Amino acid sequence: MDINYLGEVQLAHKLRCRVDGCQLVHWEMMRRHWLLVGACGWVLLLLMVASRFINFNLHVPDDYGGKVEARTWTELSARTAKPQRTIPQPNSMSAVDVFPTIPSDWRSVEERRLDQLASVCRNASLRNLTHTSINKFVLDRIFVCDKQKILFCQTPKVGNTQWKKVLIVLNGKYSKVEDIPEDMVHDHEKNGLPRLSSLKENEIRERLDTYFKFFIVRDPFERIISAFKDKFVKNPRFEPWYKHDIAPAIIRKYRKIHRDPDDSSSHEAPGLRFEDFVRYLGDVSGQKRLNRQFGPHVIHWVTYVELCAPCDISYSMVGHHETLDRDAPYILKAAGIEHLVSYPTIPPGITLYNRTKVERYFSGIGKRDVRRLYERFQGDFNLFGYPRPDFLLD
Ligand SMILES: *[C@@H]1O[C@H](CO)[C@@H](O)[C@H](O)[C@H]1NC(C)=O
Ligand SMILES: *[C@@H]1O[C@H](CO)[C@@H](O)[C@H](O)[C@H]1NC(C)=O
Ligand SMILES: *[C@@H]1O[C@H](CO)[C@@H](O)[C@H](O)[C@H]1NC(C)=O
Repeated sequence: MDINYLGEVQLAHKLRCRVDGCQLVHWEMMRRHWLLVGACGWVLLLLMVASRFINFNLHVPDDYGGKVEARTWTELSARTAKPQRTIPQPNSMSAVDVFPTIPSDWRSVEERRLDQLASVCRNASLRNLTHTSINKFVLDRIFVCDKQKILFCQTPKVGNTQWKKVLIVLNGKYSKVEDIPEDMVHDHEKNGLPRLSSLKENEIRERLDTYFKFFIVRDPFERIISAFKDKFVKNPRFEPWYKHDIAPAIIRKYRKIHRDPDDSSSHEAPGLRFEDFVRYLGDVSGQKRLNRQFGPHVIHWVTYVELCAPCDISYSMVGHHETLDRDAPYILKAAGIEHLVSYPTIPPGITLYNRTKVERYFSGIGKRDVRRLYERFQGDFNLFGYPRPDFLLD
């Protein structure tokens, strides 16, 4: 799977080089054939005008902004009906396809993912790791776009702000993505993007049964690293509770050695260490009380199973952050909204899995703790086809 994926990336690079090469030739010709270039210019201009008609431009996703480093409700237990929408045929040539989008075999990639998900959901020995009730916590994660009949389950650290903006515009509260004030994106009282939990039980059931439903995942260990870094190391948005409330609570319970604070020979940096975080996350039963105390902030590190109930809601599509450049246009097409919106350009390489980074973060962390962490996230690894990180566990 990794190797295939690298192959695809290399191919994409080659294609890009080829395009650049064409451009050089193009400039060379320009000196000699002004008329020809003039004509090309007109064609380009027409294409640009045409594309403006079709896409409104989104800017670089702020989830990646400035990052150089790749940077109890009544339970609805019924499994919902299969999505009724047709799966897109990627080879049809529409104006949107002028831009690099969906490889022709992408449909089979998406179908294989859904097959894998269904088969792991059926596996009885993994049941505790893959199933959850469709409770209020899950319904709080799911956003509703009634105009286009779409449900979107929010999973942090995979470019979700952009999807939410897209849905806010589709719902009609704002006419352009650029018009949405940053602080409005996450204000669900005012932004016209309701949570599923705000509806009545029969309204929820109807939407779960008939709407297009999707969410985005990424490698579970990279996700944890990303959450740790963004919430406890830098924290670009001003969210003091991570460092001031949550970190000390985890340290009190999970730091192995509490150094004497008066010991001046101790040069360690203050604050939560990745090691503490891993030990907390791997303690399945012990973390429950802390998590109640942390409230909705735990969305950054609880499993995708707990966030979106992927075995209890039958999703139409699951995107992967690692292949978001192909998944995003595919999802737009499958949801039938590709003529209304486009997903912003994803900076190249930024979403790729980085094994060096994972190794670096986990170096020096005890095997026993890493194994317990893996056990906690094994459901996510298996459901979404991420390979077991043998290099950390064996
Ligand atoms: C169920 O999951 C377990 C643990 O991953 C695995 O060993 C087993 O082969 C799976 N069973 C089926 C039927 O896929
Ligand atoms: C699943 O969890 C229940 C209770 O939490 C436990 O009794 C049961 O043994 C677990 N099953 C498996 C297969 O781990
Ligand atoms: C992977 O992570 C390492 C360590 O954080 C970093 O030095 C390297 O540049 C990253 N590689 C890519 C391709 O982003």
